[in-house]
Amino acid sequence: MAALLVLGSYNHDIVLTVPRFPRPGETLFGSGMASFHGGKGSNQAVQAARCGASVAMRACVGREDAGDAAMALWAAEGINAEDVMRDAQSPTGTAIITVDGAGENQIIVISGANLALAASTQIGAARVVLAQLETPVDATIAAFRAARDAGAITILNAAPASVAPSAVLLGLTDLLVVNLTEAQELTGVMAAPETLAMLLGARYPRGAVVTAGAAGAVWSVSGRAPVVVPAHVVRVVDTTGAGDSFTGALAAAFAQGMGMEPALRRASVAGGLACTVAGAVPSLARLDAILAAGG
Ligand code: RIB
Repeated sequence: MAALLVLGSYNHDIVLTVPRFPRPGETLFGSGMASFHGGKGSNQAVQAARCGASVAMRACVGREDAGDAAMALWAAEGINAEDVMRDAQSPTGTAIITVDGAGENQIIVISGANLALAASTQIGAARVVLAQLETPVDATIAAFRAARDAGAITILNAAPASVAPSAVLLGLTDLLVVNLTEAQELTGVMAAPETLAMLLGARYPRGAVVTAGAAGAVWSVSGRAPVVVPAHVVRVVDTTGAGDSFTGALAAAFAQGMGMEPALRRASVAGGLACTVAGAVPSLARLDAILAAGG
């Protein structure tokens, strides 16, 4: 059985390349359109599998071609998808993503079948259970409760920032992973990553990681002085999926028994490499490339 269970979304990503983001009411010409596998849950599962972890996915996709494509992706990546539901009533999730000339993105998600993911307390032999906020909270709470009962580690990537995580879910979280915006939303404080990591890290048994792009990642637990891991410096093409890459690599390292600091370094390199290639899944590096880049 898989050491890491990832519970989360799958989206069919449609990516539009634009010179800059349009203003409200403005018509703009883009330079390209492409489609990729996406969804925070699936991206994180794929990154973890590419890091060599044994991974199971719990998700819900539609019964049309896009859902078949998701199943084919997980099969190709060696991810156990026995628990994946196929919903006859709703289409597979879709994300419309615009990427500007600086590689920054704006994302609109139409959740579709992701919202039909049902709760289950089956976590198999998972040592780590990882979730985000793009699927129903009841399903995540059920899995995190089962993980706590089984002595497994729960990791919550509280993304996207537009979804407020429930207090119950946060109470079942061992390690929180958030970006700067999400950290500011959760604390209500506009502060530096170090301050936010200390504030949040005091709330969870294994602390909190705050990722801050080019400023690196910061981890703190129990109010202790933060550990700062520098960013892996790259030429940015597209930041889509970089946070998922970081989180998936971190969870994989945990599932493989690595300590926090080497796990953070590996995640940081993975996240950096994910900015160098267009699209979410195509940008998720394999372990040999991560190791070669110092991860
Ligand atoms: O984190 C990037 C992902 O967010 C995209 O793949 C998109 O599907 C949205 O879920």
